Amino acid sequence: MEVIIQPDEDAAARLVARIIAHHLRRNPALVLGLATGRTMTRVYHWLVRLHRDEGLDFSRCRTFNLDEFIGLPPEDPHSYRHFMNTHLFDLVNIDKARTHLPDGMAPDLEAECERYEKLIRTSGGIDLQLLGIGRSGHIGFNEPCSSLSSRTREKALCPTTLEQYAPQFGGDPHQVPRRAITMGVGTILESKRCLLLATGREKADILHRAVEGPVSAMVPASALQLHPRCTVIADEPAAEQLEMKEYYRWLFDNEPEWEPFRT
Ligand code: F6R
Repeated sequence: MEVIIQPDEDAAARLVARIIAHHLRRNPALVLGLATGRTMTRVYHWLVRLHRDEGLDFSRCRTFNLDEFIGLPPEDPHSYRHFMNTHLFDLVNIDKARTHLPDGMAPDLEAECERYEKLIRTSGGIDLQLLGIGRSGHIGFNEPCSSLSSRTREKALCPTTLEQYAPQFGGDPHQVPRRAITMGVGTILESKRCLLLATGREKADILHRAVEGPVSAMVPASALQLHPRCTVIADEPAAEQLEMKEYYRWLFDNEPEWEPFRT
């Protein structure tokens, strides 16, 4: 795992967008794993800019989102399908038939989870998985106690997550859907590369536990320590509690791979 610290939220999101663009240019048929949420809106803003200003081409890539709420149809403004269409898919040259999210309205949710796993497999697996981190320590909606080898499945949202999402549902945690379909931790760990973005002081404690604490199902994001190629990008407020900050900065300044991304 490596950690890159950026001065602020916008710089962190822009760096993530530039890394995604770099991979997409090298492999236009990239299989991209995507996330939603507040943190991701800036990443998608920058990806749309790169498409408009530099012709970043999405026409051959395929995407798989991490999760979707159960019981929300795609046209519901709170659904993740709606989020993705609004923030990215409607604004770039992507073929929507190649964009995938779990179907939270499927009559047989177990079969839907199996279908999703199979589709990821038959697409060749995820090349680059974008991740946020929840205040509970979740990645996707893998809440505390999630098995570190879990696959795509139904999951109940924990109280911390209901609180985190309440502002998007009129401030009332009771309005947040109780359940979601999420890729499992095991599914995420199989992607060839992971990029986790954390911004804001409210993520500082959980980021410290995920990156520098023990690997534990109580902090599902800590499972990323087991991933052979995981990069964490944090802004200064989210990085506040990291104990090895100066070492991470030194690595970023000295690793040849990051040279094109230092400015
Ligand atoms: C959403 C997802 C979640 C979010 C996390 C952070 O698709 O996978 O794990 O990434 O809850 O959300 P924000 O960015 O809203 O703080």
